[in-house]
Amino acid sequence: MNQKKLKAIDLFAGIGGIRIGFESAGFETIYSNDFDKNAAATYRLNYGEIDDTSLIKVTAERGMKKIPKKFDILLGGFPCQPFSVAGNKKGFADANRGNLLFNVIEILKKRKPRAVFLENVKHLKNHDDEKTFKRIQEELLKAGYHMKAEVMNSMTHGNVPQNRERIYIVAFRSPRTLMKFRFPDKIPLTKKMSHILEKNVDDEHYYDERFGEIYTRIKKAVKNRDSFYQYRRIYVRELKNGMAPTLTASMGAGGHNVPLIRDAKGVRRLTPRECARLQGFPESFKFPTNQAKSHLYKQVGNSVTVPVISRIAENIRIALES
Ligand SMILES: C[S@@+](CC[C@H](N)C(=O)[O-])C[C@H]1O[C@@H](n2cnc3c(N)ncnc32)[C@H](O)[C@@H]1O
Repeated sequence: MNQKKLKAIDLFAGIGGIRIGFESAGFETIYSNDFDKNAAATYRLNYGEIDDTSLIKVTAERGMKKIPKKFDILLGGFPCQPFSVAGNKKGFADANRGNLLFNVIEILKKRKPRAVFLENVKHLKNHDDEKTFKRIQEELLKAGYHMKAEVMNSMTHGNVPQNRERIYIVAFRSPRTLMKFRFPDKIPLTKKMSHILEKNVDDEHYYDERFGEIYTRIKKAVKNRDSFYQYRRIYVRELKNGMAPTLTASMGAGGHNVPLIRDAKGVRRLTPRECARLQGFPESFKFPTNQAKSHLYKQVGNSVTVPVISRIAENIRIALES
């Protein structure tokens, strides 16, 4: 039987981690949006088109012309800085970013897709004494959506050795469809650090005397070849059991949150490809060769763990089709 594919729009698309997850579960993407020119270039390289106009502008346009009239699900890994512990935690008070969720709600009210999928930092749940989360629930309900949310860790739910807790929100217009949906269970972790690391990594990833004081500190702390480490502004921490730290948008910017390892050649940071593997991206995923590495790290840190997404997407598809 040749069933028609369920259609998705991919907002705050970044480098398309959510898209890959949903497409592997049988969805088709018919519109994508992200205003970051570098992320958009990476996205284009991998999937073709993306609209790089700010979503604020797109929703303000009369009739929201760019947003397709009909689609089944809205996907949105909306910006997390206003809610994250690392960010300033202004939440909805953040004039530019917190309010983007209202743009999503606007689209839902106008286009009425059958389902919504949102992803954000775990802290979204507790932000502002849980007021933010309750507000999201209320706004979704006012727009006609019933939601479920769950915090899942990539290492327990995505079979990648990355300690990354995120909140996943799934909502449907039909309460009966919501009843049919369940979040995926834990799965065994079989992917190890050895599956992630590349061989023959370029010298530029290694630390040496040029890094001065940082090098002295790192060289002393990063001893064990079976552990990931993380450089956190002024100290280095070792992660247990071969798990990698949560990859972050800031990890490529220099001195903070940089994931480190020791190998036969010395102490080095991870490569963008290794970071993509920790996020469960397929090997076929392409990185542009004309962007600074710091952009690539930011893009992967901002993204999602693909296998977690595809497992949720599979359950959404089953709920929508049953
Ligand atoms: C957490 S990232 C989402 C990453 C994506 N889920 C992925 O797999 O790569 C949030 C994205 O929202 C985008 N963004 C923030 N404000 C925006 C706006 N006003 N219009 C469009 N995109 C925006 C950022 O550029 C960033 O790429």
